[in-house]
Amino acid sequence: MTLETRLRLNYLLSQYKTKYEKYYSKTDFEYVMKNFVTKFDSRESIGTLLLQAYEDCGLSEELSVNLYGSFINHIKTDCDINGDLLEVGCGVIPSLAKSLKKQQSIGTITVMDPVVKIPQYGNLRIIHGTFTAQTDVSKYKLIYGAFPCRATSTMIQSSYENDVDLYLALCGCVEGMPYLDYYEYLFDLEDTMKSLSNKTGRNFDIFEYSDLPYPLIKTYR
Ligand SMILES: C[S@@+](CC[C@H](N)C(=O)[O-])C[C@H]1O[C@@H](n2cnc3c(N)ncnc32)[C@H](O)[C@@H]1O
Repeated sequence: MTLETRLRLNYLLSQYKTKYEKYYSKTDFEYVMKNFVTKFDSRESIGTLLLQAYEDCGLSEELSVNLYGSFINHIKTDCDINGDLLEVGCGVIPSLAKSLKKQQSIGTITVMDPVVKIPQYGNLRIIHGTFTAQTDVSKYKLIYGAFPCRATSTMIQSSYENDVDLYLALCGCVEGMPYLDYYEYLFDLEDTMKSLSNKTGRNFDIFEYSDLPYPLIKTYR
C-alpha cells in the first residue's frame, strides 16, 4: 500500500469515527478501527463490518473483492427493485441499502437489524429490531438480504407464508446451527423450499455467481 493511500484511508477513518462511532458497540468499533487500513488491500474475504464502512466511505470499488457492488448488480438484474423493499440484517451502518436506494427510480427501502441504531441515513426507513415470523411484511414487494446469517430461515419462511418475493446472498456461517457442515445446511434449505413450493406454488432457485462467495436464494411467483 502506498503512503498516499494509507494517509487517505486514515483521513477517511477519522471522519467515519466522528460521524458513526456512537452507533457501534465498543467491540465492533474497535474491530473497524483496527482493521480498516490493514484489510483494505486484502485479497481474502473481508468482514461485513468493514464492508459497511468502506461502502459508506466510497471505497468499495477499490477493493480486490467488491461484494456490495456485486450484490447490487445482481439484485438489479434478477429482481425489480422499483417498489417498497425490506432489507433484513443490514448491519450497523446500512450502506448497502443507501447505495441501492440511489438506483431505485420509485419505491422505498426499509432496513431492519437489532444492531442498527443510526436514526437517519440515506433516505432509508430504519427499524431497530429483529426480523421474526411475526414481522409484518405485507407492504413490501421484496424482502432481501446480503449475508443475513441467522435470519435466513425466518426470511424464507416469511416469504412463503406471506407470499412476498425474496432475494438473499447466503453467508458461509453455520455456527450454532445443528449441521455437520455447510453442504448439509444447503441441502436442508433446499428441502425446506421444495416442500414449501409444493404447498404454495411459489418458485425458488438456489444459484451461484462467481463474484459472490456463497449461493444465493430467490423465491418468486
Ligand atoms: C453477517 S452480518 C451482515 C450485515 C450486512 N448485511 C452486511 O452485509 O454488511 C449479519 C447481520 O444480520 C443481523 N441479523 C441476524 N439475525 C437477524 C434477524 N432475525 N433480524 C434482523 N437482523 C438479523 C445481525 O445483527 C447482523 O448485523
